[in-house]
Amino acid sequence: MLYHIETFGCQMNENDSPIIGDLLHSLGHQPAGEISKADIIVINTCCVRETAESRALGFIGSLKHYKELNPGICIAVCGCMAQKSDTAEVLRKKYRHVGVVCGTFAMAQLPYYIEQYLSDGQRIFDVEERYDREDIQRDKHLSESDNNYKAQVNINYGCNNFCSYCIVPYVRGRERSRKPQVICDEIRALVAHGCREIQLLGQNVNSYGHDLEGNWDFARLLEEVSAIEGLDRIRFMTSHPRDFSHHLIDTIAKLPNVCRQFHLPVQAGCNRILQEMNRGYTKEYYREILAHLRENFPDATVTTDLIVGFPGETDEDFAETLEFIAECRFDAAYTFIYSRRSGTPAATMPDQVPEEVKKQRLQQLMDIQNPISLAQNEKLVGKTLVVMTEGPSRTNAEVWSSRSEGGKIVLFPAVDGLQPGMLKKVRIEKAQTWNLSGSLVE
Ligand code: SAH
Ligand code: SF4
Ligand code: F3S
Repeated sequence: MLYHIETFGCQMNENDSPIIGDLLHSLGHQPAGEISKADIIVINTCCVRETAESRALGFIGSLKHYKELNPGICIAVCGCMAQKSDTAEVLRKKYRHVGVVCGTFAMAQLPYYIEQYLSDGQRIFDVEERYDREDIQRDKHLSESDNNYKAQVNINYGCNNFCSYCIVPYVRGRERSRKPQVICDEIRALVAHGCREIQLLGQNVNSYGHDLEGNWDFARLLEEVSAIEGLDRIRFMTSHPRDFSHHLIDTIAKLPNVCRQFHLPVQAGCNRILQEMNRGYTKEYYREILAHLRENFPDATVTTDLIVGFPGETDEDFAETLEFIAECRFDAAYTFIYSRRSGTPAATMPDQVPEEVKKQRLQQLMDIQNPISLAQNEKLVGKTLVVMTEGPSRTNAEVWSSRSEGGKIVLFPAVDGLQPGMLKKVRIEKAQTWNLSGSLVE
């Protein structure tokens, strides 16, 4: 049969979807190419914010007519939203055209549930939190067509941090590290297929290894990965500031193929709010880590995440955050309006901030950050950066897109013989808020 997978959400889901595809493939199914031809439609969902959830639900709702036209097809919902109990219940009661609802813990079972549903038409729900059948099935199954120059590799799943606003620990479960051997074997296989750049992924990569035997930590894993022959670039995300140690910084300083790019979400620049968020650090601590990073890597790209309108955030609290952001001079900040997630502690906190105020604060934050992002990029004008080529830019085939070591998009006029995944030098001539442009240096 023909399948189609629609993916919402973060890299975790983007990584899981091809694995689901592989599993379906191994049962004899083929990609449909377009959704209207599919017999099996899988929707891999996100629920980190309400907007993510309504997008997924809207999409699922729009599939009802497919099911009416072709009653024999299977519509399956998986991913984080399927694992969120109240939404799973909504799917069960109100989205009757959905045949299978399969949470993140049962991902490896999804293809079998689909088969079962296709054969007997009985709806299946598996949203149980369970840890007994995961790692092996989640490994990448590489095929001849997997010759991408860059890839992402999960190093740990789940999260133990329970930031008070966040749903992820509930839908992705407790943190568990993949074994270093498994990670390195997977990377070696990717490299053998032509991969030059790896991004190590986890909700909190810095706590890697605490659940493994043999004194593993993230710094040691980076050393192992860095020693794999044939890798030009290693990136990682996300780093939790609390677990971002000096030892890690010192280790990275010795590893030239680990990119000087750090995504270090601060979330707020006000200690009272940080505490209410259960982030486990103060702004002074964060400032110290940032200073140590920049001392060691003056050219590093540092980006962050911020939430505005956390319950109880006053104008004064927010002003403190604005001040802190101005001080930190991030290369970019991903800014989010606080979204109430049922089941999290913050959802029932008093003094929820009105939507209007949240929107205003978001705007104020961007008004401060965007000029800083631009100024950070302008510092690179006149410099020559080593970039990894990606492909023709989206709007103009004559212009190629590439990434600097810091992960910034660098555009340059195309020449003959370019392939994705080449290291080239580009002299930067122009800076914008979200990208740089220049020309190739011979
Ligand atoms: N584990 C990562 C990423 C988690 S989700 C980390 O700790 O940084 C990515 C971002 O979504 C978070 O950094 C946070 O800024 C944002 N986020 C999470 N829950 C949110 C919520 N309820 N409302 C608004 N933004 C949220
Ligand atoms: Fe969510 Fe916090 Fe875990 Fe990140 S560290 S996934 S924000 S609970
Ligand atoms: Fe990612 Fe969304 Fe799940 S951000 S971990 S897909 S809730």
